[in-house]
Amino acid sequence: MKKHKILFVCLGNICRSPMAEYVFRHQVSQSGLSDIFITSSAGTSGWHNGENMHQGTLKKLKQQGIDPSGFTSSQVQPGDDDKYDYIIAMDNNNLAELERLFGKQPNKIFKLTDLIPEIGYTYVPDPWHTGDFDETFRLVSAGSQALLEQLTSVD
Ligand code: 4NP
Repeated sequence: MKKHKILFVCLGNICRSPMAEYVFRHQVSQSGLSDIFITSSAGTSGWHNGENMHQGTLKKLKQQGIDPSGFTSSQVQPGDDDKYDYIIAMDNNNLAELERLFGKQPNKIFKLTDLIPEIGYTYVPDPWHTGDFDETFRLVSAGSQALLEQLTSVD
């Protein structure tokens, strides 16, 4: 079966997109679907390349029973639009940067919040500024769940 390849993207790749990557992978694993998904994350900036996740993200994942080990922050690479089926941005700045790099590809490159219009957010606020990792977790969990449902219902 063809694998779904998913890249979550934020600015620093230490707060939001690593949380989305690990939450989505956890949900996939809980659903017994690990064989058909390849999941990663990256930042548009590269400012934290080589670092681990932010302490707030680590803490929240652990609190939710999700193993956060094995992460290294990295930057979006040229060619990622060929490598991935879906590149999912956390906010409008991430989306604009991805569209600058790869062109507009609305079926491939979009915001996580596009999948959860009922939640009433048009982007995932940055906990680097807000300090609210609970909000991040709530949004990435809902968005990841919607993504998983969407991708598994078309198969
Ligand atoms: P993230 O949060 O994009 O969710 O990883 C940020 C992390 C670091 C910075 C900004 C946002 N920074 O300015 O270094």
